Amino acid sequence: MADKMKAVGLYEYLPIDDPKSLQDVKVKKPKAKGKDILVEVKAVSVNPVDTKIRAPKEGKEEEPKILGWDAAGVVKDTGDEVELFQPGDEVYYAGAVNRQGSNSEFHLVDERIAAKKPENLDFSDAAAMPLTTITAWEALFHRMGISINPEDNEGKKILMVGAAGGVGSIAVQLAKYAGLTVIGTVSREETAEWAKKNGADYFINHYKDFPEQLQEHGIQEVDFIFCMNSTETHWENMSEVIAPQGKICSIVESKEELDMNLIKNKSAAFLWEFMFTRPIYQTEDMIEQHRLLKETARLIENGDIQTTATKKMQGLRAETFREAHQIVEEGKMIGKLVIKID
Ligand SMILES: NC(=O)c1ccc[n+]([C@@H]2O[C@H](COP(=O)([O-])OP(=O)(O)OC[C@H]3O[C@@H](n4cnc5c(N)ncnc54)[C@H](OP(=O)(O)O)[C@@H]3O)[C@@H](O)[C@H]2O)c1
Repeated sequence: MADKMKAVGLYEYLPIDDPKSLQDVKVKKPKAKGKDILVEVKAVSVNPVDTKIRAPKEGKEEEPKILGWDAAGVVKDTGDEVELFQPGDEVYYAGAVNRQGSNSEFHLVDERIAAKKPENLDFSDAAAMPLTTITAWEALFHRMGISINPEDNEGKKILMVGAAGGVGSIAVQLAKYAGLTVIGTVSREETAEWAKKNGADYFINHYKDFPEQLQEHGIQEVDFIFCMNSTETHWENMSEVIAPQGKICSIVESKEELDMNLIKNKSAAFLWEFMFTRPIYQTEDMIEQHRLLKETARLIENGDIQTTATKKMQGLRAETFREAHQIVEEGKMIGKLVIKID
């Protein structure tokens, strides 16, 4: 039926080895209104947010809940207030976690948080980028206020905790583009190799003492820390190595109360980054996400930064998505996992 579309969704929150955890479903094809564009989805990526939302818990959905907040595709229709796009435009975007996700044939997204995809990337390579790029860009340049111009960052150092994951892979590239010295944390040779390819200058192990390892590289302190994993585990180490008046930004909620007093004498700042804040709260500046994705497309087209896609799968099928969730849930991703929608 023309008004129905295929999607992968869930009714119950179940372990991923349960075949009902993600199911093939048919749902109503959405219609574009207001500032929304209707996108025919060509590729998506899977992020930890998908597995966290899907994770086992009480409750049932009457209508299938569709996950997936990273997509690339073609604009098919536009709402009456849309100014930035036309049918036929190839776009990439993350979307908003308080709306249905993109694991479907068609998807609605507010034009203010989408941009034209980089021309030199296919849909899969483009779908790897939006959610993690928005996160890393907002953390570095908006929350911590780092300048993107290398002339402003001479001698400045950033510690990236979890440097080889999805967010780390683009955060390292953006920090290098901005001229910072990047120290990445990794725990395996493969992750160190990948972070080095993205531009990281030094490595330390996130399961060992930070100050001691930094000193081995002749580094006493860092100006910025971007924490992308286990905030509570790393808090003491981060407090020790942050420079006086430095900034720490985390994207992972803490499982324990953080002792803010540890950074008081250094007048250091702690900041949160949540990349869905702008779309959820419809902030006046939510178009910043369109702008940063547009600028990222330019940097990719210039060859300044590269796609972070490393694992590619195919098919808008529950079975494919269950396998993808299993991989991401292990917490050992290097770069990003993408799924081409056929
Ligand atoms: N707030 C936001 O807006 C936002 C946005 C995006 C993501 N996130 C969250 O940020 C986290 C990272 O996302 P992601 O997409 O980068 O995840 P990911 O791709 O699954 O991250 C995998 C990486 O984590 C590293 N890792 C594992 N244990 C670690 C530890 N204890 N300390 C430091 N690193 C560790 C691994 O490195 P090794 O194998 O070398 O150990 C691996 O390369 C997730 O919790 C995600 O939900 C938040």
